[in-house]
Amino acid sequence: MVFKNNKHVVNKLSQLIYVSHTQEDTTLEDILSILKISRYNNSRDNISGLLIYDKEIFLQALEGDRSAVERCYERIIRDARHGAPYIVWQGDLKKRLFPMWSMGYCTPSDLNDDDKKSLLALTNLIAKDVRSVGSDLLISVLVRVFFGGPKVKVICN
Ligand SMILES: Cc1cc2nc3c(=O)[nH]c(=O)nc-3n(C[C@H](O)[C@H](O)[C@H](O)COP(=O)(O)O)c2cc1C
Repeated sequence: MVFKNNKHVVNKLSQLIYVSHTQEDTTLEDILSILKISRYNNSRDNISGLLIYDKEIFLQALEGDRSAVERCYERIIRDARHGAPYIVWQGDLKKRLFPMWSMGYCTPSDLNDDDKKSLLALTNLIAKDVRSVGSDLLISVLVRVFFGGPKVKVICN
């Protein structure tokens, strides 16, 4: 990241989307504490994104300077509050999908029917075998469908 006229200028805008398994005993307090540290760190690092939690899985989109996003993900994968993190999509972005959020949060019940179907399909797929041959492409298509429109409603605590 470089600074120009005292503003953050992102070198290479990049997006990383991963899914992971929640722990059996994940509580709302855990989620709130994850959101608190995420919003603090992400706004410091000029990262925006969204965290979706649906009892069994987390799905998180991180977007920002590529090296900042990668550093953030390195921290996240060491966190014992979830397991088996798996990158379903990583690539460059022309513009942010969640520019307003240092970390938005929503649950599937906040999504419309189309988005719910995509999330359900994604959850089933992950439950089957996320690493099976060919599933990568399918998952990335699903994720792109899922994040494709301006339909995702986000709740702010
Ligand atoms: C599902 C999940 C999502 C997280 N998302 C972020 C995030 O977007 N940004 C962040 O800084 N930390 C996030 N965290 C918290 C990090 O894992 C870590 O606890 C935090 O960044 C502090 O790291 P540190 O103790 O190495 O400083 C997340 C944790 C979990 C379990």
